[in-house]
Amino acid sequence: TGLDAKMKAKGKKYFGSCADSNTLNIAANVAVLKSDFGQVTPENSMKWDATENSRGSFTFSGADTLVNWAVSNGKMIRGHTLVWHSQLPGWVSSIGDKATLTSVIQNHITNVAGRYKGKLYVDGDPGTSLTHCIFSEILNEDGSLRSSVFSNVLGESFVTIAFTAARSTDPSAKLYINDYNLDSNNAKVQGMVSLVKRINAGTKYIDGIGTQMHLEANGAGGAQAALTALASSGVSEVAITELDIKSASTNDYTTVVKACLAVSQCVGITTWGVSDVNSWRSGNTPLLFDNNYRPKAAYNAVITALS
Ligand code: G3I
Repeated sequence: TGLDAKMKAKGKKYFGSCADSNTLNIAANVAVLKSDFGQVTPENSMKWDATENSRGSFTFSGADTLVNWAVSNGKMIRGHTLVWHSQLPGWVSSIGDKATLTSVIQNHITNVAGRYKGKLYVDGDPGTSLTHCIFSEILNEDGSLRSSVFSNVLGESFVTIAFTAARSTDPSAKLYINDYNLDSNNAKVQGMVSLVKRINAGTKYIDGIGTQMHLEANGAGGAQAALTALASSGVSEVAITELDIKSASTNDYTTVVKACLAVSQCVGITTWGVSDVNSWRSGNTPLLFDNNYRPKAAYNAVITALS
């Protein structure tokens, strides 16, 4: 009867939320995760600064907490995120040569993706038990490649370097590229579609595209067009990966959910948290549960849209 069950009844794979030890320590939050969500995404614990803050020295305590919780509770996991220009330790940002950066990316991915390979809940479709978000946020608003240590040193080749490493480490995981402001069929969506078509022209490196959808009030009108355009790149999946909406209006949430239902390649929706009180945008009351973990009007609107 919760969000995830209704989403699955519509033929989708999950309704998920981010989580980590800070929110898994809150009983009321955990109760809602158990009743309503079928997938968890580590909010911070799988990022580069959390897992390899010093070169070659890996720390998995936070990510293990999330993964172990998901495994014991039968929840799917979306990895997040193997390569991102933000929350990136200084020692990576200061690498200046191609050979070193290539082997550093490969070693990071081999260790982080390798840690969780085969340890995860399998729901009859092993390929969906773990999706790895390889990249967050590699594009500018005009669709061009964002300046980062990765693009500055390696050009676009860092995309195939990273996807190749992830594919050989965990061949059954779905591999995603993920970005923000992919909220309508805008220049950034067009840039993403061109990038994915270019990268996937021979070998299919990229399985899916994630649109984060950190939306403003009344900002959901382009969601279906965005999902449709992203799917036109030929990927087998698209997903809404970090949904939150300023003021959480029932209309906006309904529009986003209906957009995913209307696009066959859209496999699931992840909200970026459960309760407003733990949101990175807590001042915007953007989520489906209030500060006391009670369902809001937007929650009821989502349930209705899924019914
Ligand atoms: O872990 C330290 C802690 O040791 C320290 O005491 C504390 C003091 O500020 O900071 C803690 O780190 C914070 C971290 O969250 C863990 O709580 C960082 O300051 C804070 O900046 C960080 O914010 C996260 C943000 O990504 C970082 O860019 C948010 O929780 C997280 O929701 C947000 O998520 C991102 C996605 O990963 C990518 N897309 C955008 C989205 C929103 O920014």
